[in-house]
This record gives sequence, C-alpha cells and structure tokens, in this order.
Amino acid sequence: MRPGDQLRPAVVVVGASRGIGKAIAEVAARDGAPVVLVARSEVALAAAADDIRNAGGEAFTVPLDFLADDAALGLEDFLSANGLFCDVLVNSAGYGLRGGATVLPLDEQLGLVDLNIRALTELTLRLLPGMVARRRGGVINLGSVASFTPGPYMALYYASKGFVRSFSEALHQELRHTGVTVTCVAPGPVSTEFLATSGANRVALFKILPKLEAGYVAEKAWRGFKTGRRLVIPGLSAKLTILLAALVPSAIMLPLIGRLQRRSKDPCPCGSGKSFTSCCGARGNSLGTTTQSR
Ligand SMILES: NC(=O)c1ccc[n+]([C@@H]2O[C@H](COP(=O)([O-])OP(=O)(O)OC[C@H]3O[C@@H](n4cnc5c(N)ncnc54)[C@H](OP(=O)(O)O)[C@@H]3O)[C@@H](O)[C@H]2O)c1
Repeated sequence: MRPGDQLRPAVVVVGASRGIGKAIAEVAARDGAPVVLVARSEVALAAAADDIRNAGGEAFTVPLDFLADDAALGLEDFLSANGLFCDVLVNSAGYGLRGGATVLPLDEQLGLVDLNIRALTELTLRLLPGMVARRRGGVINLGSVASFTPGPYMALYYASKGFVRSFSEALHQELRHTGVTVTCVAPGPVSTEFLATSGANRVALFKILPKLEAGYVAEKAWRGFKTGRRLVIPGLSAKLTILLAALVPSAIMLPLIGRLQRRSKDPCPCGSGKSFTSCCGARGNSLGTTTQSR
C-alpha cells in the first residue's frame, strides 16, 4: 500500500475455512464486501477464497491459529499491510467437546476456553474501538442454543456459549446509538463438521434435533446483523428449544440434558475406569457411595 491510499472496509471472518463461517463469508462477499478469510488450514482457506472469487467476490486468506497468543496482532498486521480495515468482524471459530468434565483431557478443555472465549473476546475488544471511532460496522459472534442452559456432558461448551451471548448482548446495548452493531447468532444443530469433531453427533439430543444448513444460518445471521439485531435465532426448532429451556425448571432440564448427552459407554466421572452405567450410574448407586466403596 502507498502513503495516502485510502484504507478499504473489509469483512473479517475468523473460522472461515468451512462450516458457518465460510457460509457467512460467501453471503458477505455477495453483498459486495471484500472478505478476509481466517482459519488454520491454508488449503481449505484457498478453496473457500476460490469459491468466492469464482462467484465474482473479492477474498483474502490469512492462515492463523487463534490458540496462539499473537494471532490477533498478526491479523491486524495483515489488514494494514493490505490497505484494509476491519469493518465487520465475524467470530465463527470454535469447537465443542462431549464427555464428562472430570474425564475429558484438561488441555483440550482449556483450549476450548481459549478459542471460544479468550480469542473471541480479544478480537472483539481490539477491533471494536476502531469501529466506534468510524461510527460504522460491528461484530457477529457465533453463540448457540446451548447458551440458554447449562449442558451436562458438554459443560464447557455450553458455558462458553453462555459467555458469548452475555458478552455480545451487553455490548449491543452499550453501543446503541454509536452506529455499531454487535449481534449474537444462536443456532441449534447445523450440518457441519462441528457435529462430528465435537462428538455431539453420537448422542441422543443431537440425533433428535433437526439440523439446519450452514447457508441458511449465514443468510439469517447476515440479514439480522444488517438490520441491527441483538440476537438472531435461526429456525423454528431453535426458537422452541430456547422456549423450552426458559419454561422447564433446571431440576428437570439438567437431568434431561445430561441423560440425552451421555453415552452408556462413557467412563464414570468418579474415575473408576468403568462405564458410568456399570459404576455410579448402576441402579441403587449414588456417586458418593460408589466412590467410597472402591
Ligand atoms: N454446527 C453446529 O451445530 C453449531 C451450532 C451452534 C453454534 N455453532 C458454533 O458456530 C461456530 C462455527 O461452527 P461450525 O459448525 O462452522 O464449525 P466447523 O465446521 O468445525 O468450523 C470451525 C471453523 O473454526 C476454525 N478453527 C478451529 N480452530 C481454530 C483455531 N485454533 N484458530 C483459527 N480457526 C480455527 C476451523 O478452521 P481450521 O480447522 O482450518 O482452523 C473452521 O473454519 C462455532 O463457534 C460453533 O460453536 C455451531
């Protein structure tokens, strides 16, 4: 970029190599914005950028791992080196883990907190002040229906999405009248790799809930953001799930979700190495009595 050149507004999508992020990037590009695609996989990013360019859009790729401390700085460097500023930030990078919190590997659980919460927060807080100064643009954060209830056997994932929704909705309110919008998108299950990589597709809850297409979620997210919405809940089934979570008392909801997200072969949370059903979950055993009798 030469001195005196104007910076151009771009839509920056973190988690754009596949799934919902890729679909949002495609919708934004169709709207005429240059899009900056960010994720770890260079090959998948290049393919996503080709799709956008073949459809007449403009796309840049930035391979970055947002579990690394300097990723946000790397992104800012890329933008300024290419004469761009972040007009709209889409935080779609995230992963889920299914299983007991006392059994799942600690590093994977802390990594989830790092990506789903810390990286999203850092990017949002680094890029929002510029948007407010320019009085335009905003942030789309991917939450989930999981943000509306605790989720036994996906405890950290649900908690991370609770953070995303709370943070995003509060920012939306703080930034009213500034010209900047913060929108939280809260879909139910979407047909992407997330369902397999998180292990969610192996449990009853995700088998019974209908799945949305990423393109549908992306259209709703983009339109909702453009019209200044605080919260976008794509699809009727997600709205009904959230209504159910609000109406059913936790004393009923938590055992129900726990039962629907647990697998009979899951290792027992007490650490015996046996399956839950043959250990603390066996008829007549409470966690306490079984632990003491080992
Ligand atoms: N699918 C669902 O059922 C569902 C429902 C509700 C909410 N959501 C949320 O929607 C968001 C997108 O999910 P999805 O379904 O599109 O998942 P996905 O298909 O697994 O895509 C996740 C994206 O995040 C990127 N990513 C993962 N780790 C990263 C890292 N360390 N640094 C940078 N990028 C990283 C991935 O690319 P690389 O692997 O190339 O890095 C990929 O582009 C997530 O926050 C998820 O929690 C999903």
